[in-house]
Amino acid sequence: MTIRSLFRLGLIALLLFAVGCAPPTTQVGTIGSTPLQDKYSTYFTIGAATTPSKLAAVQNIVDFHFDRLTCENDMKWGVIHPDAGTWNFTAADALADYARGRGITMTGHALIWHNQLPANNWMFTGLTPDTDGARSALKTIMQTHIDTLVERYYDVIDNWDVVNEAISDGGGYRTDSPWYEYFGSEEYIYWAFRYTKDALEAHAGGTGTSLGKLYYNDYSVVNSTKLNAIIDMVKWLRQDPSTPPLPAGQSPIAIDGVGLQAHWQMDWPNTTLIQNAINAIDGAGLKAKISELDISASYGSSGTINFTSELAQIQANRYAAIFSVFRSNNDKISSVTFWGVSDDQSWLNNFPVSGRDDYPLLFDRSHNAKPAYYAVIDFN
Ligand code: XIL
Repeated sequence: MTIRSLFRLGLIALLLFAVGCAPPTTQVGTIGSTPLQDKYSTYFTIGAATTPSKLAAVQNIVDFHFDRLTCENDMKWGVIHPDAGTWNFTAADALADYARGRGITMTGHALIWHNQLPANNWMFTGLTPDTDGARSALKTIMQTHIDTLVERYYDVIDNWDVVNEAISDGGGYRTDSPWYEYFGSEEYIYWAFRYTKDALEAHAGGTGTSLGKLYYNDYSVVNSTKLNAIIDMVKWLRQDPSTPPLPAGQSPIAIDGVGLQAHWQMDWPNTTLIQNAINAIDGAGLKAKISELDISASYGSSGTINFTSELAQIQANRYAAIFSVFRSNNDKISSVTFWGVSDDQSWLNNFPVSGRDDYPLLFDRSHNAKPAYYAVIDFN
């Protein structure tokens, strides 16, 4: 045996030893080898919210793991329709084209919301709240907005967050939304769903494409007071007995589902609350969708925490428990979307505390799979 072959044997032995020593679950430095989208293909699609600049840094992860996308900001009114007659489709188009190229679907987010409106508030300028003039002007503006987006994206968007966060935490309609203020009531919610439904029928229906589903989306949906108010709103829209009347002469609308944003924490909500919410939504004849999932590791801390391996494991166990609930309710859940791809890209690094790092997602700041990822795929 030559010295060289001895050396080679030694190297192989060393390699085998190293492989044998590596703990099977830590797999440091990879994006994981089981695609989430494959592992969950018989349950629901698995989505991520992103924007083209973020996508560029994690596209290998998105290509491999996710089969649904949401524009994190690019379809919001302030970005896409910043002034009367001014449209900025660039970023939304780029994501839509990526999705079309892969043959995956998107979630349309969000048509009517009180946040991230145009900086100049152009749609409300010059109007007097709670007047026929304001209602009539805003109905035209809303319809143009909704019709334009539906026409442009109906082929790739299979469900729309038509109205976002219109119910207040204590139940009842949120009265501090300019939509509520200028319409003088919750009537705007009806028109948002009406115009979306009409646009889908005119555009998608006209081409024989299946119509996108209509969703109401909100946070803290597991809170029973809020959930009851959401379900009352759905019943009003479809005119169940003894609900308030719709605008005169308008026909009822049966919406399809409720989006639970699911900006959750390590210890809230517990799985019973989640299950109760899913049951209530299903009991009202609706689909639940998990629309903006993240599990903050920093909740309650004013500064950046030390995300230790113990914390990573606690978070992994939390994700495992939540996904176990999702899987056992897959007949009631239409999709699960993470609000971001990797921790460095999460909105929670700037909310509710600006500049405080958070660690809420399945992929870490170096874009490697975290214990939470392994927990989510760990089932038969
Ligand atoms: C967030 C985005 O992630 C941030 O980039 C942006 O600065 C603020 O909005 N509920 C929603 C989402 O419906 O649109 C929000 O997204 C998070 C809370």
